[in-house]
Amino acid sequence: MAAKQILIIDDYPQLVDFLTERLSAEGYAVRTAATGADGMAAVASFTGVVLLDVRLPDGSGLDLFQKIKSVNADLPVIFITAHATVDMAVEATRQGAFDFIAKGSDLLKRLNVAVKNAFDRLAMTEQLRRLTTQLSEKVQFDQFITVSPRTQQILNTLEAVVNSGVSVLVEGESGTGKELIARAIHVNGARRGGPFVAVNCAGIPETLLESEMFGYEKGAFTGATARRAGKFESAHNGTLFLDEVGELPKSLQAKLLRVLQDHTFERVGGNETVSADVRIVSATNRDLMAEVKAGRFREDLFYRLSVFPVRLPPLRERPEDVPVLAQHFLRRFGTEEGKTLTGFAAPALAVLASHPFPGNVRELENMVRHAVILARGPEITEDDVAATLGSHRVHVAGTGPGSAKPIAAAAGTPLPDRLSAAFPTFESIATIRELQLAYLQRALRASGGNVSKAARALGLGRATMYRWMKGEVDGNGGGDGVADG
Ligand SMILES: Nc1ncnc2c1ncn2[C@@H]1O[C@H](COP(=O)(O)OP(=O)(O)OP(=O)(O)O)[C@@H](O)[C@H]1O
Ligand SMILES: [Mg+2]
Repeated sequence: MAAKQILIIDDYPQLVDFLTERLSAEGYAVRTAATGADGMAAVASFTGVVLLDVRLPDGSGLDLFQKIKSVNADLPVIFITAHATVDMAVEATRQGAFDFIAKGSDLLKRLNVAVKNAFDRLAMTEQLRRLTTQLSEKVQFDQFITVSPRTQQILNTLEAVVNSGVSVLVEGESGTGKELIARAIHVNGARRGGPFVAVNCAGIPETLLESEMFGYEKGAFTGATARRAGKFESAHNGTLFLDEVGELPKSLQAKLLRVLQDHTFERVGGNETVSADVRIVSATNRDLMAEVKAGRFREDLFYRLSVFPVRLPPLRERPEDVPVLAQHFLRRFGTEEGKTLTGFAAPALAVLASHPFPGNVRELENMVRHAVILARGPEITEDDVAATLGSHRVHVAGTGPGSAKPIAAAAGTPLPDRLSAAFPTFESIATIRELQLAYLQRALRASGGNVSKAARALGLGRATMYRWMKGEVDGNGGGDGVADG
């Protein structure tokens, strides 16, 4: 480690020589300046502790101190003077001097202590600065919009691993943002200068997938007229995104495991060992551990891939994200479509809030895109949103037609939470009248227009239901509470 630097700005040669000798003996590297001007010149490129005389041939030490602070506010400055007065000491410390020492018999002893403390503070200031720069270089998953504490927590923990090379496994239902996260890990990490290469492990036949991933040699198979690099080679020094990794056939699982273990592989039809330095981020909409237990996925590979596992919650489990994401997509598609839309009408948000979103964020994105195209403005109305319902049914594994899973899960979200999602701000609160109508329409739509069924769901008798439909606000259903059959 380089010696700690001390700069003495003083015009009294005997004292300067004395201090230089003593401080050098303590192991400090001492530089000197006899005038304020020389002192300023030296300060420009200096990190350490400054010992400053109160009176200098070309001005006052206090003035010089101000100038030093304007160049480098963090330098600890210790005043030394033969002309110590309490007033001066107070003034110097008031202005931020680190310490104030009177020339006298115990000068050296006091100076040693002051210098040591000053270096301690310097180290602390530097550490603080390092921390703050780290903070300002904080990972920005800024394309990933979320206000859900649970998802924000996931992003926070991801910050810790973006710069490392550890394998990240992103699990989540279709459309929850797995690929978005994978790209964010890449662009925020140390490999951002390298390529981001994606392979979709689903839907490509086993033989093709192997050559796709590892490349092939000329003549490896009919049509292989020239050597081709695979995705692994292309991703060298970057990130390889293995999408739908749960679909990887067993034979390729074994080969992938070997690559992850020794970073080498052979191209299809070749003997040459190729090496690639690749960071793996993989994604799956299956429960990969369950696949392991069912014997469909290699356990050893699972642990290699999921060194850092991330599980993105489905949208219905973070209803507070619905209005925020909807606004985000509205701005985006509004700009794309050249429409100035001010936002969503409250009943429109209510419809969104009651939708279970089996297709998650992708489904919401498509709905808003569609609604923006339909909207005549200035707001997106309930009708605009309602018209998009059903046109974006997404098939999700395990939640096909007849499966009530997502709906049941949405119902599991407490009503107050779903309401805060629909009305996130005071301004967005709908009147009871609006809400009543929206709720009624919602129930009717969900019951397929069956009034009795809708009334039952709402806990109303048919009479009250009809009064509501006519627009009477006060029918609270209390009188005829039990639903008719
Ligand atoms: N939190 C988010 N903020 C903004 N956009 C999002 C967010 N999550 C997802 N999206 C958008 O939703 C769409 C679907 O996301 P993505 O493709 O990452 O999902 P996925 O989990 O990979 O889905 P699949 O399993 O179907 O491949 C993308 O257009 C993405 O940009
Ligand atoms: Mg995807």
